[in-house]
Amino acid sequence: MASYVDEVGIGDFVLLDEITTESFLVNLQKRFSGGKIYSYIGEVCISVNPYRTVNIYGQEYVNQYKGREIFERPPHLFAIGDAAYKTMKRRGKDTCIVISGESGSGKTEASKILMRYLAAVTNISGQQEIERVKNVLLQSNAILEAFGNAKTNRNDNSSRFGKYMDIHFDFKGDPLGGQISNYLLEKSRVIMQQSGERNFHSFYQLLLGCPDPELSKFQLTRDPNHYHYVRQGGVSKVDSISDRADYKSVQSAFKTMGFPQDAIDTIWRVVAAVLHLGNVDFKTDGDRTQIKDTTTLTKVATLLNIEKEALNKALSHRVIAAGGEVLHKGHTSSEAIYGRDAFAKAIYDRLFTWIVDQVNKAIQVSGSEGGKTINSTVIGVLDIYGFEIFDRNSFEQFCINYCNEKLQQLFIELVLKQEQEEYQREGIKWQNIDYFNNQVICNLVEESHRGILSILDEACLNVGKVTDNMVLDSMDQKLRGHLHYSSRKLNPSDKELKHGEEFRIKHYAGDVIYCINGFLDKNKDTLFQDFKRVLYSSSNAYLKEMWPEGAQNIYKTTKRPLTAGTLFKNSMILLVKNLTSKEPYYVRCIKPNDQKSPVLFDVERVTHQVNYLGLLENVRVRRAGFAYRQSYDRFLRRYKMISQYTWPNFHGGSDKEAVQILIKEQNLSQDVVYGKTKIFVSSPRTLFMLEQARAKLIPGIVIFLQKLWRGYICRQRYKRVVAVYRIMRYYRRYKMKAFVKELVTAFRNVKQMPDYGKRLRWPAPPPVLKQTTAMLKAIHERWRAWMILRVIPQSDWPQLRLKVAACDVLRGKRPDYGLWRKWEGDYLSLTSEHGAVQKYSTAINNMKNKEKFRKVAFSCLVRKINKHNKMADRAIVVTESAIYKLDQKSFKSMSGKIALQDISALTVSSGYDGLIVIHLQGGNDLVVSLLSSDLEDPRVGEAVGVICHNYRVNQRRDLRVVVSDNVQCMLGKKQRLIQVQALPNVSIVSFTKNPSGDLSYSCPLREPAGKGHNGIKSVKNGY
Ligand SMILES: Nc1ncnc2c1ncn2[C@@H]1O[C@H](COP(=O)(O)OP(=O)(O)OP(=O)(O)O)[C@@H](O)[C@H]1O
Ligand SMILES: [Mg+2]
Repeated sequence: MASYVDEVGIGDFVLLDEITTESFLVNLQKRFSGGKIYSYIGEVCISVNPYRTVNIYGQEYVNQYKGREIFERPPHLFAIGDAAYKTMKRRGKDTCIVISGESGSGKTEASKILMRYLAAVTNISGQQEIERVKNVLLQSNAILEAFGNAKTNRNDNSSRFGKYMDIHFDFKGDPLGGQISNYLLEKSRVIMQQSGERNFHSFYQLLLGCPDPELSKFQLTRDPNHYHYVRQGGVSKVDSISDRADYKSVQSAFKTMGFPQDAIDTIWRVVAAVLHLGNVDFKTDGDRTQIKDTTTLTKVATLLNIEKEALNKALSHRVIAAGGEVLHKGHTSSEAIYGRDAFAKAIYDRLFTWIVDQVNKAIQVSGSEGGKTINSTVIGVLDIYGFEIFDRNSFEQFCINYCNEKLQQLFIELVLKQEQEEYQREGIKWQNIDYFNNQVICNLVEESHRGILSILDEACLNVGKVTDNMVLDSMDQKLRGHLHYSSRKLNPSDKELKHGEEFRIKHYAGDVIYCINGFLDKNKDTLFQDFKRVLYSSSNAYLKEMWPEGAQNIYKTTKRPLTAGTLFKNSMILLVKNLTSKEPYYVRCIKPNDQKSPVLFDVERVTHQVNYLGLLENVRVRRAGFAYRQSYDRFLRRYKMISQYTWPNFHGGSDKEAVQILIKEQNLSQDVVYGKTKIFVSSPRTLFMLEQARAKLIPGIVIFLQKLWRGYICRQRYKRVVAVYRIMRYYRRYKMKAFVKELVTAFRNVKQMPDYGKRLRWPAPPPVLKQTTAMLKAIHERWRAWMILRVIPQSDWPQLRLKVAACDVLRGKRPDYGLWRKWEGDYLSLTSEHGAVQKYSTAINNMKNKEKFRKVAFSCLVRKINKHNKMADRAIVVTESAIYKLDQKSFKSMSGKIALQDISALTVSSGYDGLIVIHLQGGNDLVVSLLSSDLEDPRVGEAVGVICHNYRVNQRRDLRVVVSDNVQCMLGKKQRLIQVQALPNVSIVSFTKNPSGDLSYSCPLREPAGKGHNGIKSVKNGY
């Protein structure tokens, strides 16, 4: 099955030729000696404690195992971690890794290695928050081990509490946070240690690692032998442990987790207070018990921020509230010592739980209240105290060993029992494999009424004086004949057991003799109310928080709390339930020897462990069994794409038939068995092949799905766009109709209106009709013009244009500009104007040929003034492109023509005279007064209209016209002012130079001929 090379012995015990204890051990020893500490039984990992640093956990090893199947690489814990991770990711299933084995077999190390692996393979995108969570998860170990681990005779770093950690992952497989559950701390260790053992590491870390100033703040001396609570085992120094370095790591872990400085301070103060409390002694004075030395007491009170007197009282008295009265009863000296010890245990125990709570807060999955969030999956890692036998075993060992029985039971249930039962249920040919079922031992402890915990609880309930001895009696009575229980009374010949004191339980992992003394007290776990109140009264907020029940009214009778045993039993039942709900992976740890030697393989000790762990049975079940099973429908759903017959749907029959066709097509029939509802696959390799075939097709399917989905999205978008356009179309049509309707209403009577709708307010058009409306407006304007002009004969329209041009520039600025009369234009061609018409015609015809103009638009006699202030009479002729000055006699052009484009502006006066200044570029304007035979009209309006009209046609822009009585002009490149003077006694126009250098223009005073000279209407009327 295994495909890797470089093996020592056989990596997977399933492949052993012969399944006997001997061959199993030979192979295990061979591997251990060859440095291979991990082996498999299928997917169960066997780990043998190497007791030395092995260099197999670095990044290169992580890379080797990442994303690989178990059988592809040599056995390693990483492979188990990866399998649990893969299952969680692939199937979205919660998984758990249960690490079991006796004390010192390497469980805690294994759990840390697994956590480090999971941290190493996740958060590829390097998100900060995930890094923080991972860091906190890893660092939490240092803190929990400092406060919950201790040196025992079995293990220098023995876990004295149970730990189950759920790590939550998001859908991408990145850790989101976690939740740690702690189980029963062995708190008796706080006050008492067996020979060769130590108290919890935290005490020694504080005493040996904490800097001097801190130490004196806590009023401690750097010598563990000075303190009763830490010196009883006789070893304060352990070679494998550096308390100083560990203190530093713990401090840094506190910081990483975000513990506030005052919280860290409080934690160490409590540890110091416990140390001092152990040194509080009592003396008896008559029947009064008193504290011998109150300086120590003061230290405790100061460290806990409580009243010294209140503490003194709580240690030497007991408050009894009965019948509404409060009595203070003095302690006997043994009661006082019991009270002090119970106090010390309770403070430390609470501190530990509080620390775990704080750690949980730091790694809590956001959006969850400690529980599981909807979108996360979980990998649980269980590292709990291992099975242990000491010289003297008490209530704590009883609980620890019961816990191990429960885990063994879980293993049996899931790996041995359920598996075999399932084969039978599914109708698969199966040779039953026998194994020892330890349910009977679990029952011995936990059964109601008959179980040891029940018997203990019953005794605790009794009001009268019940002793441990009486409990043993009761157990003897009720458990007589039980195959796994015995005592001296039940078996008097068994000299190993002390009469009235000891009993023996035959655990799955070995016989353990327990000493009944202390069982009752430890089960009751009473702490006098007074202590709770004293701690609640502490001015330290953290301590107050640890003791909320101290707030309770002294008179209030409280419900009897559950006993320690029952609480522990309940938590175990819950734990097992939790583990059962997840897909389990097992790591079975084996301790090769009791000497912590890296080379010694104690065959006897290992055989014992192999036997009680049921590893051989495990191999047998596994060998005959199947690596994987799945219901047909789920199997089909996962692998249907592999076969053309089943993809996308199988139409030929049941799911089972579909699966059979699929397997046959893949040539895998020899490795599977078909059950009633499930398919069973023998080797992981087959599964791997199916997975590979699936993985190859997934990208295509993803693209296919993306294609469909994108198509769907596009179709939806297209439909929406079409709908939008349709709505827009309808809306636009509606707006247009509404506009047109409004327009029609507004313009209904436009023909009858005197201004033909000039002043009508147009309704606001919708944007789409803006252009059309502009066109409509133009049409309306044209129509209006037509309506006005239709009475004027078409032949007069050219003249009208000239009048409009004059109107544009002169309206409102001059009193009259000849609109009322017919504009003759070429006045010099009229005999009424002068007597040389024939001469003029000849001259003009010659000019026409020479100058190539079409016709004379305007001609007139003028009087001009030149730059030398000299007046001269001339004639001017305006054509479509130029102005000509002609000699008045010969009508010959003088000094060239003035092209229209050379004109920059015109200036006329606002009066009723003939002055017109034609401004030219070059500084010599043409200043003339138009002369007319008809003195009624000076013809200025006509000349301006003709020049402006021709200029617009010629130049495509308007000519500027200034109307002013202070006429500015340039003569001889000089700025000159012409003052217009209309005088009654003047009959002929003249220009004269003033003494100031300016010019005066005198002309006869005339009145305009008619009214209504300002608009089209008047033009119309004029005709
Ligand atoms: N993989 C390993 N590599 C190196 N040393 C190891 C390894 N596993 C265990 N050890 C050594 O064995 C010691 C005991 O291991 P560990 O504390 O994990 O035992 P445990 O099973 O948790 O015991 P307990 O039940 O008492 O808590 C460790 O302190 C370490 O020295
Ligand atoms: Mg441990």
